[in-house]
Amino acid sequence: MFDYKDLYKIYVPEQFGPDEGGGTSNSLDEVFAQLPDDEVKTDWGATQFVIMIPGADKVVKIPFNGEEYCNYEDDYEQELEESGFNYFTMDYCKHAYELYCDAEERGLNRILAEMEYFGKTANGIDIYLQETVEYYDCCEGSSKYFKSEDAHINSKNELEQLRQRSKGTGDDYLWYRFPTEWMVAALHHYGECFMLSFLLWCRDNNLCDFHSGNLGWSKKDGSPVILDWAGYYE
Ligand SMILES: Nc1ncnc2c1ncn2[C@@H]1O[C@H](COP(=O)(O)OP(=O)(O)O)[C@@H](O)[C@H]1O
Ligand SMILES: [Mg+2]
Repeated sequence: MFDYKDLYKIYVPEQFGPDEGGGTSNSLDEVFAQLPDDEVKTDWGATQFVIMIPGADKVVKIPFNGEEYCNYEDDYEQELEESGFNYFTMDYCKHAYELYCDAEERGLNRILAEMEYFGKTANGIDIYLQETVEYYDCCEGSSKYFKSEDAHINSKNELEQLRQRSKGTGDDYLWYRFPTEWMVAALHHYGECFMLSFLLWCRDNNLCDFHSGNLGWSKKDGSPVILDWAGYYE
């Protein structure tokens, strides 16, 4: 049986990332070869590699560090490099973890899937664990969350009113940062005051990549949670 302790034995290639189209690459194959493919599932986006042990309450996150995927050659890239910012090697897991700790200090972390530091791979790459989350399904919207249709409709109206009220304040876009149906559930669950504080924190940290693949429902109590908040800088 695959155990979290096996993570200490993994060698992560020096240049670890998907191919240009986001698909498998040689470096991903190198890691797959070290995993028992009948015991774990894997997933990834542009910035992180995720290992899921079926039935386990935590997923494993290992940062990508670029490779082929981030090979842009435009002026913007040059500008970023000249400014010392290097997204080829940016560790988005570390970024997510630091943001998580900051949110925790501010009492804002309950909307983020719980995250913890685990340790290092055999070659010293930091690994993190995150609460396993049930994916947000755009077609289902938040029907799974609401126990009654009245509560759902009330919350929809509340969000609409907030959007109207914030028009012209410069902050109205904040209430559009998440897919509407997920936001309706989040507003109902956490309340306006918490959501506004959280949205302002997102604004201050330039976090905005909240597409449906980065959202979900907590397996503990069904609450709306975010599984990927580190964004993507390009
Ligand atoms: N906590 C989690 N629970 C369940 N699945 C997850 C979790 N975190 C990530 N995943 C799956 O892995 C995919 C990639 O993870 P994500 O953190 O979004 O990486 P990236 O930053 O590369 O987009 C997600 O879209 C989701 O399908
Ligand atoms: Mg993602």
